[in-house]
Amino acid sequence: MAALRRLIAGNWKMNGLTADGLALASDLAARAASAPPDCDLLVCPPATLVAAVGAVLAGGAVALGGQDCAAAEKGAYTGDISAEMLRDAGCTHVIVGHSERRGACGETDEIVRTKVEAAWRAGLVAILCVGETRAEREAGLAQTVVTAQLSGSLPDGADAARLVVAYEPVWAIGTGLIPTLADIEEIHRAIRAGIPGGTRILYGGSVNPKNAAEILGLVEVDGALVGGASLKAEDFWAIAAACG
Ligand code: PGA
Repeated sequence: MAALRRLIAGNWKMNGLTADGLALASDLAARAASAPPDCDLLVCPPATLVAAVGAVLAGGAVALGGQDCAAAEKGAYTGDISAEMLRDAGCTHVIVGHSERRGACGETDEIVRTKVEAAWRAGLVAILCVGETRAEREAGLAQTVVTAQLSGSLPDGADAARLVVAYEPVWAIGTGLIPTLADIEEIHRAIRAGIPGGTRILYGGSVNPKNAAEILGLVEVDGALVGGASLKAEDFWAIAAACG
């Protein structure tokens, strides 16, 4: 079992209108109040729901995060949301460098690094995502790619209190496929060598109630970043319960 207190983070992605988001948040808040699991909990709703979900979660054990932030603090960046705005809306965390943004939005390591800096400037914990593609894994390059992404995306001055790293193989996201447990451990060990001691490393990519216990049982895994299964309170809760 991991030495650090684990974090189970839900990435809702672009899902949920007000009624769904508030129902899901209320359900999680009620579960956390009556039977808190043996881990930290975080949900990252779409930006439109951050403030409303934050109001539902306020004072409880489920923390609030954004899914991305701009590098700049404010200004002429139509459509963007700054880390300061997320903080103002009640967030304590923000995901940066998710593969869906690295891929679809062309975010390079350098851009991701400026976003981590922005998160820290605003007082947020940055959840920095890294992960290889299927072709990279098949070419035997997974560890090389992941460690290069990490060193390219991580600013100087990292410390465990404001950094979480999420290892998310691109080919495992939303596919139902996961690496072998040995492969997860190997990549997590390589990541750990490049970050400050005490920094949590989450695994992400097709985590569900069935595979959560074996993944979260790995010594190198300090939690999970959960996409699809975080949209159902019961499934998210089952994953959190696997920590206990
Ligand atoms: P998934 O997504 O759990 O649906 O595979 C994980 C993620 O993209 O963070």
